[in-house]
Amino acid sequence: MDDLQAQFDATIAADQRIEPRDWMPEGYRRTLIRQIAQHAHSEIIGMQPEGNWILRAPTLRRKAILLAKVQDEAGHGLYLYSAAETLGADRAELTELLLAGKQKYSSIFNYPTLSYADVGVIGWLVDGAAICNQVPLCRCSYGPYARAMIRICKEESFHQRQGYELLMAMMQGTDEQRAMVQESVNRWWWPSLMMFGPPDSDSPNTQQSMAWKIKRHSNDELRQRFVDMTVPQAEALGVTLPDPDLRWNPERGHYDFGEIDWSEFKAVLAGAGPCNAQRLAHRRRAHENGAWVREAAAAYAEKHARKQEVAA
Ligand SMILES: [Fe+2]
Ligand SMILES: [Fe+2]
Repeated sequence: MDDLQAQFDATIAADQRIEPRDWMPEGYRRTLIRQIAQHAHSEIIGMQPEGNWILRAPTLRRKAILLAKVQDEAGHGLYLYSAAETLGADRAELTELLLAGKQKYSSIFNYPTLSYADVGVIGWLVDGAAICNQVPLCRCSYGPYARAMIRICKEESFHQRQGYELLMAMMQGTDEQRAMVQESVNRWWWPSLMMFGPPDSDSPNTQQSMAWKIKRHSNDELRQRFVDMTVPQAEALGVTLPDPDLRWNPERGHYDFGEIDWSEFKAVLAGAGPCNAQRLAHRRRAHENGAWVREAAAAYAEKHARKQEVAA
């Protein structure tokens, strides 16, 4: 046991990857299953707010882009559930835990999409924040998770650009379109900052995750990186970020920003966000409606396996 632990520690220290066949501490496995499952659930639930606009996209081109983007998110969910399965988790069980409210997904998806500008702002800010969070995960110590993240991040960066391009088109449009973009930015800015999780002083698991090299940067570091990246993009776009305290601090070499309303974050996390109940109810319905597909696929696989057995 001590030998196994020493080998694990040495692998982490050498910045090498832990693979499914390797011994790992139970806490490491549990932490990863929780994080990867939560990430997978977020990808799947995250299809809902934007899926809401597929039928109402203003042009065929916008519809095709949005369809492709929402479909990518389904793919991300599937890679991630597969990564969780390499740790011994059962995908059906993870889904049950989500539906029972026992596992979380990112709180950002509990906010409604009220206008078409939200599709652009989600791509720009929400996928943008996801990229800041996820690029360091490409170097996560657990091999299957790190490899899944490489592909996911490539697609996320496409998502971010399509959002920004949509907003640029709207900002070059009419006054009403510009007002729509600004109104949407006003609603999504603060929830996007909350995507990085609680402040470091209130994030008890961060230290252990960093020691295991699952996490490479703290919540506050990543949040700062996102703000620094986004402010010039907002300027280029011609929108105002809704924070009177936002300004460049030459001493720190970073943008200062205002206090985040953590009571809102906690309320949404606890289930009191505007769409929590709706998102889970929709997911539950989709799961129930899909039961016959899963049963048919399983029956077909079994039949096929039996045939091969007979042939052999
Ligand atoms: Fe995604
Ligand atoms: Fe995305």
